[in-house]
Amino acid sequence: MKAKSVSMVGALLALIPLTACNPQKDSPQSTSEAAPVTSRGVGPITSVALGALDSQKAARGEKLFQEKCSACHKFEEKYVGPALAGVTTRRSPAWIMNMILNPEEMTKSDPIAKELLATHFTQMTFQNVSQDDARAILEFFRQHDAPSGGKE
Ligand code: HEC
Repeated sequence: MKAKSVSMVGALLALIPLTACNPQKDSPQSTSEAAPVTSRGVGPITSVALGALDSQKAARGEKLFQEKCSACHKFEEKYVGPALAGVTTRRSPAWIMNMILNPEEMTKSDPIAKELLATHFTQMTFQNVSQDDARAILEFFRQHDAPSGGKE
């Protein structure tokens, strides 16, 4: 029993160098210029099915944004965090949701988020939003970035 667990530890330790030298495959090397739109980031969201703009969902997202995000974000100018106008054109939907749901891990392991932290000097913190809330906020961003300027 004891011997077995020791050898398991050995096996696990043997795996560490392998994972350590396996750089994140689809992560761009350095800057946010590198393939930003395809990166999914790091977190619970692997894909997001986008349909036609859902204005009710966007309205819920707008309310959440005012409550939980506007202390640090504006759309047209940098505030504590980046200006968010056009964010849906420079990041993938999954990346945006992972940033909302998992900001602290994102700024540690996602190259784009890491670079944002390096330029904004403040760590974005998790705002206690559900996946559903994050999806609604994404819808608000999509509406904001829509050619109509978001208002119907
Ligand atoms: C404490 C201030 C703060 C709060 C609150 C905050 N953020 Fe952030 N946000 C930041 C900072 C700073 C960054 C840049 C990354 C970093 O430094 O952590 C960022 C980055 C982002 C990005 C990436 C922007 C880009 O250009 O790629 C998105 C999207 C985002 N935040 C959305 C949100 C949403 C949605 C909320 C509310 C649920 C929120 N943030 C709440 C400070 C904040």
